[in-house]
Amino acid sequence: MHKPSLAFFVDLEPALEDFQDSVISGLLATPKNLACKFFYDDAGLDLFGKICETEEYYVTRTETAMLRELGPALAALAGPGCTVVELGAGSDLKIRLLLDALERPAQYVPIDISQGPLRKAALSIAVDYPAVRVGAICADFTAKIELPDDMIAENTGQRLGFFPGSTIGNFSREDAKTFLSGLRPLLGPKGALLIGVDLQKDTARLNAAYNDAAGYTAAFNLNILHRIARDLDTDLDPDDFEHCAFYNEAQGRIEMHLRSLRNQRVRIGERAFDIAESEMIHTENSHKFTLDGFVEIAEAAGYVGTARWTDAENLFSIHYLTIAG
Ligand code: AVJ
Repeated sequence: MHKPSLAFFVDLEPALEDFQDSVISGLLATPKNLACKFFYDDAGLDLFGKICETEEYYVTRTETAMLRELGPALAALAGPGCTVVELGAGSDLKIRLLLDALERPAQYVPIDISQGPLRKAALSIAVDYPAVRVGAICADFTAKIELPDDMIAENTGQRLGFFPGSTIGNFSREDAKTFLSGLRPLLGPKGALLIGVDLQKDTARLNAAYNDAAGYTAAFNLNILHRIARDLDTDLDPDDFEHCAFYNEAQGRIEMHLRSLRNQRVRIGERAFDIAESEMIHTENSHKFTLDGFVEIAEAAGYVGTARWTDAENLFSIHYLTIAG
């Protein structure tokens, strides 16, 4: 058997200095914050996988079941010979369902911020889909991404962006519009975007999804502190903080924070930060949408809401957006 390899691997992984700079600027801000994109190192991805298997976190299970059912509809919309560009490559099962559904997909290009897990995920697709040309881009997809010429040169069918999981919810509504708009050049004039969007629902259900009884979400949130303690020059102790997540109804979003358990002074490099007991460091927003509210954002970003689906319980939605002509 031949050893599978990637058609290309572009490495724009953020450097350790970027992580440190981001942490410092977040801790200088009022209120303090840490960027959620740094959740996803190996340990964080592992914990996120555990969250996805909990009873409380309906998101992944629901979206996956929907993708299974939508296969034929997606194949018809996207047509043969697609290049699938995935934003964030944490969801092995979902991309497999999509590639299985599409008619002779030509290329698969995952973009992800963590090099190791990205390489592994891309290679596993290359092994199992020998007819698909697989190349990967290690980058922060919230920054501007240039596609390699090599990929653009391929004479294939349409380009299909795949952005599952409701990761779009990490952006504010305004930033989501800007982000989606900025994605259009990457998709090309005939491109489309298949995007998973979590829906507003009962507050208790949302709160439970981000406070699972097994504690995986808490560990996932705290992992960013473990990463700081491990990788940066600091005296920060993750045990001095606790997980806090709640649905903010006025903003239509889950907020995750890390609450300081005591008055403390934390040193990072040559800087010191005073953190009061009960002070919260904001780590993530996960916006929840209404169907029309999301389509409105997509349209303002220059897309047409070509198709949309929800599950039977109206927990989650999947949208097929095309570029407005
Ligand atoms: C991967 C960003 C979609 O917001 O639900 C899960 C991350 N945070 N539990 C989400 C997450 C806490 C997740 N996204």
